[in-house]
Amino acid sequence: MIGKFCALARGVTFIMNGANHKLDGFSTYPFQIFGNGWETLGPSPDELPHRGDTVIGNDVWIGYEAVVMPGVRVGDGAIIAAKSVVTRDVPPYTMVGGNPAKCIRQRFDDHVIQALLEIAWWNWDIGKITRNLHKIVAADLEALMNCQ
Ligand SMILES: CC(C)(COP(=O)(O)OP(=O)(O)OC[C@H]1O[C@@H](n2cnc3c(N)ncnc32)[C@H](O)[C@@H]1OP(=O)(O)O)[C@@H](O)C(=O)NCCC(=O)NCCS
Repeated sequence: MIGKFCALARGVTFIMNGANHKLDGFSTYPFQIFGNGWETLGPSPDELPHRGDTVIGNDVWIGYEAVVMPGVRVGDGAIIAAKSVVTRDVPPYTMVGGNPAKCIRQRFDDHVIQALLEIAWWNWDIGKITRNLHKIVAADLEALMNCQ
């Protein structure tokens, strides 16, 4: 699932659970997809690693050619640096980068992040968003809290 007002650069890739091979045996080779009698080998779906749904929050910016691994949850307002490989969940309003992606910095203080998550401007009706665009892209919390 991808939230509202997300910006995904060119080449962003989401690896899905279905792209996993069984990895607890000696070989990871997918013999079963080639027929030849090998299809009886399985594996059954419950033998494949399953990390759950990939969830991208709202107002997330994902940089050029970033790769998001299966089941990763990216919080609202997060930023993923170009060419990152995101293997673990990303907290809200946190910037991550690298392979594996690590925290570069938290974008705002904890109390500001908490307030932004409560305001959740992305759920406002489009008229209210349009009237308040300047406040949404500024960094004045009090002004954002007083939007009409
Ligand atoms: C993540 C990003 C927004 C950070 O920008 P910034 O705040 O100006 O960051 P800085 O250049 O000051 O770098 C901050 C740190 O992050 C690291 N960093 C920056 N980009 C990185 C990347 N892609 N992968 C790993 N680390 C990265 C820097 O090395 C630096 O580390 P240091 O503090 O140990 O020296 C930017 O680097 C980026 O990747 N933007 C995406 C651009 C893009 O893909 N655009 C496509 C069109 S939408």
